[in-house]
Amino acid sequence: MVEATVNFTYHLFDPSFGDIMTYIVNDNCIACKYTDCVEVCPVDCFYEGENMLVIHPDECIDCGVCEPECPADAIRPDTEPDMEKWVEFNRKYAEAWPVIITRKDPLPTAEEMDGKPGKMELFSEEPGEGG
Ligand code: SF4
Ligand code: F3S
Repeated sequence: MVEATVNFTYHLFDPSFGDIMTYIVNDNCIACKYTDCVEVCPVDCFYEGENMLVIHPDECIDCGVCEPECPADAIRPDTEPDMEKWVEFNRKYAEAWPVIITRKDPLPTAEEMDGKPGKMELFSEEPGEGG
């Protein structure tokens, strides 16, 4: 019993262990980029690409306050099924793009593209301006 408690506590605080929770941004953000999410994040862990944002999974404290702020419903907890690819996607680009902490105008295509399928074809690996 004692051993189980120690192991659980160890895993909870070990960043290399896969059970640390995070939120991620998925492809619904592409071509919308509303940026409502960045203003509520207490740890400033959103990063800006040319046409999408991502969350750094190692910096997110899993508070959940950003999820209801996204008009495109593009922010999801990694506790949902098949989220591993999105966690790695978010990590990859968070390490390449600049941090964004200030809300900006959405992309001009935001309204038209909100909820459209096949958005990965539009994804840009280029960084945004950040800020
Ligand atoms: Fe930031 Fe909280 Fe959203 Fe994580 S869940 S990105 S810490 S607002
Ligand atoms: Fe993208 Fe939604 Fe934020 S569209 S920029 S995740 S508010």
